Amino acid sequence: MTKPRVYITRKIPEEAVKIVRDAAEVRNWEREDIPVPRETLLREVPRLDGLLSLLTDRVDDELMDLAPDLKIVSNLAVGFDNIDVPAATRRRIVVTNTPDVLTETVADFAFCLLLAAGRRLVAGDAYVRAGKWKTWALMLLAGQDLYGATLGLIGLGRIGSAVARRAKGFEMRVIYYDPYRREDIEKQLGIEYREMNEVLREADFISVHVPLMESTRHLISHDQFRLMKKTAVFVNTSRGPVVDQRALAEALQARQIFAAGIDVFEKEPVPDDEPLLKLDNVVVAPHIASASVPTRVRMATLAAENLVAVLQGKRPPNPVNPEVLER
Ligand code: DGY
Repeated sequence: MTKPRVYITRKIPEEAVKIVRDAAEVRNWEREDIPVPRETLLREVPRLDGLLSLLTDRVDDELMDLAPDLKIVSNLAVGFDNIDVPAATRRRIVVTNTPDVLTETVADFAFCLLLAAGRRLVAGDAYVRAGKWKTWALMLLAGQDLYGATLGLIGLGRIGSAVARRAKGFEMRVIYYDPYRREDIEKQLGIEYREMNEVLREADFISVHVPLMESTRHLISHDQFRLMKKTAVFVNTSRGPVVDQRALAEALQARQIFAAGIDVFEKEPVPDDEPLLKLDNVVVAPHIASASVPTRVRMATLAAENLVAVLQGKRPPNPVNPEVLER
């Protein structure tokens, strides 16, 4: 029997490739540092039964039109805004993602940014390395206390909830907004629901955990930054376009808020002339919130398992459009 044909759009851990190779004929973009060029990907897809994609690959009508046999697009990420899911569903192509396995790792990183931005860690590091540290000074690089402060979460899905759990260890009061109120989690964690504007007004630290959809694009913009405290620390580990980056840069520059920690950007990688990069009250990272070694390996193997399940006619662990699986 001929094996199904699969393309993997990046170099990924060998244990994940093996899972696919055992079930399919595999071709692979071998670079880790550069995404597969669009033309190469479009040349590959006409022969494919399965595609293992990364968040840097756009999977749209144009691509799927070229792939009459495509059955599964397995995205190696929890977010899947790079995929036109309705277009896949129309073609009965299953789309899968990699939730759960990265929840705790991303929540750790959100905390890392809350602390680093609030306590000016990166500015301190730069200060020491630049040889500017000449004496101890009372208010040198003084920041904001996380301990005992109010944390405002925008979004209380898996990752938002995991951040709330960590906040309890810092004896923070936690308030949240989510379009789906979760009274079970409120009771379990002792956290409080608020309308979004109230979260923005009341919180000392704000962390965003929503998926990118049309309704969340620029969810946080000028009006929202204006509501925040002057001492507020703002963190985004979700998707760049959820935040109006120009509004964020202006709010930081005008000291309308105290600091920010940003892992995701409207355009990735960020252009060299990005205004945020000129500011000393923002900590930036290159979209690495889920990047611990074990978690990235687990994400890759889960993406492989999702892909192989569909190719073998089984239900994948993480379908995004399960209606395609119903016959
Ligand atoms: C995701 O999985 O969506 C992240 O942004 C990368 O871990």
